Amino acid sequence: MAGLVASVSGGWSGIVRRRRYWSMFGIFAIVLFFGYSLFILSTEYDRVSKIINYLKPNKNNAEADNSNNSTEPLDPFLEQLRAKYKPSLHRIDNSTFVTVEGYTYKVNDTNHYFTEPLGKRLLILDADSRLETEPGHMLGPPPLTHEDIKRGTAGMMNHFLYAMIHGYDYRLVKSPKDPNRHGTWSKVPLIREALKTHDFVVFLDSDANFQYYNLPYEWLLNLWGVNGDTLAAMPEDPNSPVNQDSNGWVLWNTGFVTAQQSERTQDMFNRWDNCPSGERYKECKHWAFDWAHEQAAFGAFVRYEYEIGKDLVSISCMDGNGARYIADKKCGGVFVSHHWGDKDQTIKQLYNKLDGQSVEDLHRYFHDNQQTFYVNAEKHTYPIKDLTI
Ligand SMILES: *[C@@H]1O[C@H](CO)[C@@H](O)[C@H](O)[C@H]1NC(C)=O
Ligand SMILES: *[C@@H]1O[C@H](CO)[C@@H](O)[C@H](O)[C@H]1NC(C)=O
Ligand SMILES: *[C@@H]1O[C@H](CO)[C@@H](O)[C@H](O)[C@H]1NC(C)=O
Ligand SMILES: *[C@@H]1O[C@H](CO)[C@@H](O)[C@H](O)[C@H]1NC(C)=O
Repeated sequence: MAGLVASVSGGWSGIVRRRRYWSMFGIFAIVLFFGYSLFILSTEYDRVSKIINYLKPNKNNAEADNSNNSTEPLDPFLEQLRAKYKPSLHRIDNSTFVTVEGYTYKVNDTNHYFTEPLGKRLLILDADSRLETEPGHMLGPPPLTHEDIKRGTAGMMNHFLYAMIHGYDYRLVKSPKDPNRHGTWSKVPLIREALKTHDFVVFLDSDANFQYYNLPYEWLLNLWGVNGDTLAAMPEDPNSPVNQDSNGWVLWNTGFVTAQQSERTQDMFNRWDNCPSGERYKECKHWAFDWAHEQAAFGAFVRYEYEIGKDLVSISCMDGNGARYIADKKCGGVFVSHHWGDKDQTIKQLYNKLDGQSVEDLHRYFHDNQQTFYVNAEKHTYPIKDLTI
């Protein structure tokens, strides 16, 4: 009996010992397993993030990297300008924005694609073939006075100021004249070329302007549902018969184009630019000179080849076309106005928000840095190739 007890107890302790052995082994195995998984994960993470970084188009990487302080210090003028606007800047991650009319805009929860400033990866682009050097023009001598300023100059000054406040890149391009097409076509190859050096290009006609200097463009991109898949975004025209394509679909206004760099975007802009050749789209030839030129060509042909809402984003006429004072109440130009109704508005609005001295200072800054901000492409010939913007 005692032997049995002893053997039983010996058996129990043996089992316990064996269990302890097994549980220690188990713990060791688990630790090993997790350790190994972590190791694999970390190397995979490294690999995956390298791939992601590689895929990310960022040609202007050095300039765009705001996280690194070692980049050259800001010019004192810019530093002052940014400091002035900094307190009123709307945060990219603030979903809500209330307009002066009292409309509350909210970014959809699923649309927070842009979280960081794009910096110089985003280019604000102005172009014209008729840039003059008289007083009152962008290329004119300082001072740029209220008496002299031209409507188009006031629009461009709005774009330039917006770009400087937010640290975007800016170019004014003197485009070459094309004997075979109406002048408005030149924006198509220019945007395409600019996308070779920038990830995003925002082109505006000189009678279109930003309504809120304090609202970052990344915020607007989120509002409009632009994301990594988007090739381009444009606002709708007022929906009247003259603004519809032959299927009754309202045209998109090419006086305000946002485009994102990708191979597919390059291809789309090539199709668009080649449209009047009639090779891909037989009926496109007459849009070379007939109104509405490149706008009609895009609306009647090019956009039909892409997925709307994914490849192409249409911005409502309310948000990105027309203006507050225009009779069509569906086209309020809330964020970007287009003053086809009253072209003097660009001047009025510029001086509503800036005093004369600030306009002069800003223009002088542009003038002193023309080697950066101005590209004279006058001598290029069509088809435009390899123009560095
Ligand atoms: C940049 O440098 C300043 C001053 O040295 C520092 O306060 C700031 O946190 C730095 N910013 C970044 C993003 O490293
Ligand atoms: C900033 O850039 C310098 C040189 O380009 C590099 O040595 C440094 O590690 C970078 N710093 C950060 C915080 O990325
Ligand atoms: C977001 O912006 C609105 C102004 O449109 C402001 O009233 C609100 O305080 C901001 N919210 C945050 C969290 O900054
Ligand atoms: C945001 O959400 C509203 C309501 O759900 C929808 O009508 C609108 O199309 C959405 N906008 C974008 C840009 O996704």
